[in-house]
Amino acid sequence: IVAQFQPKVLAGQQVVVTAGPTFEALDPIRGITNHSSGKMGFAIARAAREAGAEVTLVAGPVHLPTPRGVARIDVQSAREMLEASQGAAQSASVFIATAAVADWRPASQSEQKIKKDGSGQVPVLHFVENPDILQSIAQGERARAGKLFCVGFAAESENLVAHAKAKRERKGIPLLVGNIGPLTFGQDHNSLLLVDAHGVRELPRAPKLALARELVTEIAARLPPGRA
Ligand code: CTP
Ligand code: CA
Repeated sequence: IVAQFQPKVLAGQQVVVTAGPTFEALDPIRGITNHSSGKMGFAIARAAREAGAEVTLVAGPVHLPTPRGVARIDVQSAREMLEASQGAAQSASVFIATAAVADWRPASQSEQKIKKDGSGQVPVLHFVENPDILQSIAQGERARAGKLFCVGFAAESENLVAHAKAKRERKGIPLLVGNIGPLTFGQDHNSLLLVDAHGVRELPRAPKLALARELVTEIAARLPPGRA
C-alpha cells in the first residue's frame, strides 16, 4: 500500500516526530493540557514512513491509531517528551516538532487529590516554564554539526508571517512551518506556510495527509546530499 513515494525520498533516514499535546499533572486526577489533536504530526509520521524513513513518533495523549510501520513512544508531560525525543534524536537525521508542548507546568504536583476544604477558598496555582524540546535539540551537537535537520511548527493567532520568521531564527532551525489560521485543531484540512532562510512559501489548503506528503518532499529536498 506504500505506493506514495517513488523514489523513496527519505530512504535511509531516521526521522523523529513529536505530536499531540502534553499533559502536566496537578494532582493524580487533574492537569493542564490543550486542544492539539495530533493529526498533523501523525500524518507527517505516516508520510515519512511512506517515503522510506525509519520513523519514531513521540506522542502526547491523543486518540489516534499508530501509522503502519512507525515506532511510537507515548508520553504525558513535556519533560517526558523531552527525554524520549532526546533519546530518539541521538541517532536521527531529521527531527520534526509538531507537538503543542505546554509552555508551563504547575510548579508542584500534589501526590493526593487536592480537596475543597469547605471554606470556599480556591487553590492558587503557580507555574514554572517547561523545557523547550525543539530548541534544546536544535542547539545540540548533532544539529549543530549538520547531522540532524530540525523542523518546527507554529500556530499563531496573529501576524503569522512575522512571528514565524522570528520564531525560526530564535529556535535556530532551518525550516519552520506555520499553521495558517483559523486554528485547525482536530480538523482534517489545513494550510501551511513554509519559512526558511530564502523566504516564505504557502502550501494551500488540503487534507492533512496530502500536506504531510508535500512537507516530507520539501524536507527531503533540503537534506544534505549523500547521507542516506
Ligand atoms: N516546542 C517545543 N517545546 C516547547 C515549546 C515548543 O518543542 N516547550 C516546539 C513546538 O513543537 C513547535 C515549536 O517549538 O515546533 C514552536 O512552538 P510554539 O508554541 O509555537 O512556540 P513557543 O516557542 O512556545 O512560543 P509561544 O508559544 O510563546 O508562541
Ligand atoms: Ca508555546
